[in-house]
Amino acid sequence: MDGLENRRIVLGVTGSIAAYKAVEVVRGLLRRGADVRVVMSREAASFVGPMTFGAITGHPVGIEQFPPQGQTGEEHIDLAVWADAIAVVPATANLIGKMAQGLADDLLSTVLLACEAPCAVAPSMNFRMLRHPAVQANLQTLRARGCHVVESAYGPLANGEVGEGRLAEPEHVVQAIARLADPRRDLTGRSVLVTAGPTVEAIDPVRYITNRSSGKMGFAIAQIAAQRGAEVMLIAGPSHLPDPYGVSVERVHSAADMHHAVLRHTDRHDVVIMAAAVADYRPAHRADRKIKKTGTRMTLAMERTTDILTEVSKQRPPVLIGFAVETHDGLAYAREKRVKKNLDMVVYNDVTVEGAGFEVDTNIVTFLHADGREEALPLLPKTEVADRLLDCVTALLRAGRKAPS
Ligand code: CTP
Repeated sequence: MDGLENRRIVLGVTGSIAAYKAVEVVRGLLRRGADVRVVMSREAASFVGPMTFGAITGHPVGIEQFPPQGQTGEEHIDLAVWADAIAVVPATANLIGKMAQGLADDLLSTVLLACEAPCAVAPSMNFRMLRHPAVQANLQTLRARGCHVVESAYGPLANGEVGEGRLAEPEHVVQAIARLADPRRDLTGRSVLVTAGPTVEAIDPVRYITNRSSGKMGFAIAQIAAQRGAEVMLIAGPSHLPDPYGVSVERVHSAADMHHAVLRHTDRHDVVIMAAAVADYRPAHRADRKIKKTGTRMTLAMERTTDILTEVSKQRPPVLIGFAVETHDGLAYAREKRVKKNLDMVVYNDVTVEGAGFEVDTNIVTFLHADGREEALPLLPKTEVADRLLDCVTALLRAGRKAPS
């Protein structure tokens, strides 16, 4: 599941008011199938009870380096060796300073010093502390050593002030850790462009035409591609979903906006996946002023939008994948689209089936390959569909799929 099944993650928690958010991060990692062990600083235990982490992870929580009931005195080494990845969430200025200097005066800092697995820290502190040159220098030292810093966000801080230093959103922290802990780096060095969501086509300043796409499928593809090491650009129509971690996102509105954004970027990408539900027609004229009601009927003239996928297929990036969302005779239409748009693969789904299509977190899709193979997948979370789709992408890239000249 999502590349984290049975991956072993040590999560360090330090004494910041944001310590309670570490509970959400642990839950996110567990949901993705990881095995998580929590180590807390003594100060963190004043903010969140160790029993909370013990109950959700199913493992004892480490705080003391030499607990009275300790077995060998070597627990810090056992934990350090056990970890496939280690992260500190939230990380205080003090812990960051200790890491930068190689100090080890409690269990967490000792495990961090002994651990050779990929590492991340998610700082959380008042903006005055964050901008202090000592803290900035320490963070820079950690980055230079290869430790991933999950940058803090701008927003309300614990004392009511507003500024930098707020712990990154828990879901972002989970995605950052997933990138470290996912053993697959099979998209490293590859660039992937994904489109997602609906487009909106204005009728007048207050009305528009759109469709039911939520963007969930395309956002999941972008997120998992980044997790597997790709450099990802996501061009998204209006969607409430937050930007996936580590992905460049360009938000657009209309089919014309999406068209321009895609064409600006396609020549730089090895893989283009068009998951967006792009409007096929738009109002032929956008009224500058609100249209007032007159008679009992109103006719809206519509004109065709450009088919972006067909335009991209003329440039033919090495791997090009489209979607076919249908309600009837779907397989036949999907086969036709694959050929007509010269695609390596079409992902077909019938939105009338429960658990498939728009708004929900799951999908039931069939992959239609260029060699005629058709793979019908069962009901799966969209992140899992994304993973299977990216398996096909890596196979195409391995096979040396070259753009026709
Ligand atoms: N697509 C696109 N630009 C459009 C319309 C669709 O790039 N103006 C892309 C979608 O992102 C998707 C694929 O084409 O990957 C199929 O979209 P769909 O609307 O299902 O198919 P159409 O070819 O438009 O055919 P129809 O609407 O007649 O079913």
